[in-house]
Amino acid sequence: MTRDRRKPGAGARFSRKRDDEASRLAGGGVLASRVVIVTGAAQGIGAATSRKLIGEDACVLLADVQVEPGRALAKELGPRAAFCPLDVRDEHAWTEVVDVAIDSFGTIDGLVNNAGVLRLGDLETLETRDFMDVLEVNVLGTFLGIRSVAEVMKSRGRGVVVNISSTAAMTGANRTIAYTSSKWAVRGLTKAAAAELGADGIRVNSVHPGPTETAMNPVDRDRPDDWSVEYPLGRIGQPEDVANMVAFLLSDESAYCTGAEFVVDGGRSNCTLVRRFAGDPDWMTPPR
Ligand SMILES: NC(=O)c1ccc[n+]([C@@H]2O[C@H](COP(=O)([O-])OP(=O)(O)OC[C@H]3O[C@@H](n4cnc5c(N)ncnc54)[C@H](O)[C@@H]3O)[C@@H](O)[C@H]2O)c1
Repeated sequence: MTRDRRKPGAGARFSRKRDDEASRLAGGGVLASRVVIVTGAAQGIGAATSRKLIGEDACVLLADVQVEPGRALAKELGPRAAFCPLDVRDEHAWTEVVDVAIDSFGTIDGLVNNAGVLRLGDLETLETRDFMDVLEVNVLGTFLGIRSVAEVMKSRGRGVVVNISSTAAMTGANRTIAYTSSKWAVRGLTKAAAAELGADGIRVNSVHPGPTETAMNPVDRDRPDDWSVEYPLGRIGQPEDVANMVAFLLSDESAYCTGAEFVVDGGRSNCTLVRRFAGDPDWMTPPR
C-alpha cells in the first residue's frame, strides 16, 4: 500500500495547520483543539457522538455512506464540523477521509469506529452473504479505520481510537450469529491494536453499549416490556449515554486506559434481576 501523503514532512504540515485551524476554532471544552473522525455519523449513536464532541469543543469530521443526512448534520453543527462520504469497507475511501480531516482541521487526534450493521438470522438459515456483510462493515471497517489513521497519530506520538462494539461481545444471543461474531472480533481487534500502538502513545478502547434506542434498535412504545424490565436502571439506553462514554475515552481523563472494555448498558449485562427465588412465595417488585 503506497501512502505518499504520510511520508516524512507530513507531521510538520499537521502541526502547522493545527495552529491555524483546530486551535483557532477551539473553545474551552475537554476536547478543545482535538480533531476526531466519527464513522456512521449520519444518525443514531454516531450523530449523538458528533454532537457531544462538538459540545466539548472538538473539531469533528463526520463520515457515513448516507451522504445527505451526514452533510446536513455537519452543517447544523457549525464550523468545527465537516462531512466526508465513507464506506468503511473501502480502503481508498479511508485515504480520502484522512486527507479531508487534515485539510479541514490540520491533523487527526481521534477516531471513533462507530459504523455498524445488524442482520438477524439463524445459524442454519442466514445467508452467507449477510454474514460476510456484517463482518465487512463491523470488523474490516474498524481494522481499516485504525490502519488509516495510525501513521498520522504515530507521527505525533499521540492519538485515541474508540471502537463501538456491543454487549453482544460479552455473551451470545440467538438470531445474532453474524453480529455477535463481528462484535467479539471488534473486542479482540481493539486489544491487539492497543498492544501494538501503545508505545506510540496511541490508546485503543472498546465501548459496549447494551440495547440503545436508534434505527438499528427501535423501541415499540406499545410493548415497553420488550426491553425495560431487564434493566437495573429501568430504561433502555439512549445514544447520548454512549456518546458521553466516547467523549470520556477521547479525553485525557482516560489517559491511562487502553485495550479495555467500557460497558454502557444500564447494568443489564452485569446485574441479575430476580423476579422470584425458587421456593420463595414473594415476587420481587420490578424496577420502574
Ligand atoms: N442501537 C443499539 O442497540 C446498539 C447496541 C450495541 C452496539 N451498537 C453499535 O453502535 C453503532 C451505531 O449503531 P446505531 O444504533 O447508531 O445504528 P444506526 O443504524 O442508527 O446507525 C449506523 C450508522 O452507520 C452507517 N453505516 C452503515 N454501514 C456503513 C458503511 N459501510 N460505511 C459507513 N457507514 C455505514 C449508517 O449509514 C448509519 O448512519 C454500531 O456499530 C452498532 O453495532 C448499537
